Amino acid sequence: MTNKAILQLKDIFLRFTGEIHEVKVLNGINLDIFKGSSVAILGPSGSGKSSLLSIVTGLEKQTSGTVSVGGHILDHMNEDQLALFRRDNIGIVLQSFHLIPTMTALENVAVPLELAGQKDALKKAEEALNHVGLSYRLTHFPSQLSGGEQQRVAIARAMAPNPKIIFADEPTGNLDGKTGHKIIELIFDLQNKFNTTLILITHDPEVAKKCDRILYIQDGLIKESKESKKIKAAV
Ligand SMILES: Nc1ncnc2c1ncn2[C@@H]1O[C@H](COP(=O)(O)OP(=O)(O)O)[C@@H](O)[C@H]1O
Ligand SMILES: [Mg+2]
Repeated sequence: MTNKAILQLKDIFLRFTGEIHEVKVLNGINLDIFKGSSVAILGPSGSGKSSLLSIVTGLEKQTSGTVSVGGHILDHMNEDQLALFRRDNIGIVLQSFHLIPTMTALENVAVPLELAGQKDALKKAEEALNHVGLSYRLTHFPSQLSGGEQQRVAIARAMAPNPKIIFADEPTGNLDGKTGHKIIELIFDLQNKFNTTLILITHDPEVAKKCDRILYIQDGLIKESKESKKIKAAV
């Protein structure tokens, strides 16, 4: 059995041309992530964690290098192709919840399912909200929910279409410690249950230790922690 990467980065550079200096954010990143694994990305503020996430989710184009996610090479896709790629392959959870304020929890979770043309979108959305422990909040609007509940809705929305990979960028950044802890537990429970690949940006080394691998971004490069476990690729 050969190892198969669900996400592969080859020589990724990201540079911004400023008025005075060129800003070098990523300086030649090479990375293979295997299906079903969990990977934490740590690094100081401004080290390029979110930029890397934007590149692998097709929200930003790298300056050079090749990005392959779930068998799709993103490098030359246009915006429409990237939107379809995101819809069909990945889920994203961010620090701020980005729920649609005029829609209920149920409707928010149903949006990506409806966009994907799924007939029983509302039923699947309800199941996803059950999985995050919010079956009693289906008809609440985001403003009627606590921060932790809003993040649960955002997680349900990301997971409902059964994505191959979940990307989470500091998902507890807007939550208090106890609520954040519960959200992290939930993310790992769901990852286990659905065998999703998880890429989790965090500043918390204890959270990172829950992952199979721990990566650091430093000087625009990725370094693997000695604490990373040996990964058996699930092909
Ligand atoms: N559009 C941009 N133009 C210039 N610099 C940028 C742009 N976007 C991000 N950066 C810079 O890239 C660096 C990495 O940012 P970011 O990826 O958000 O870091 P992190 O998520 O690790 O805190 C920062 O120095 C930031 O200022
Ligand atoms: Mg960031």
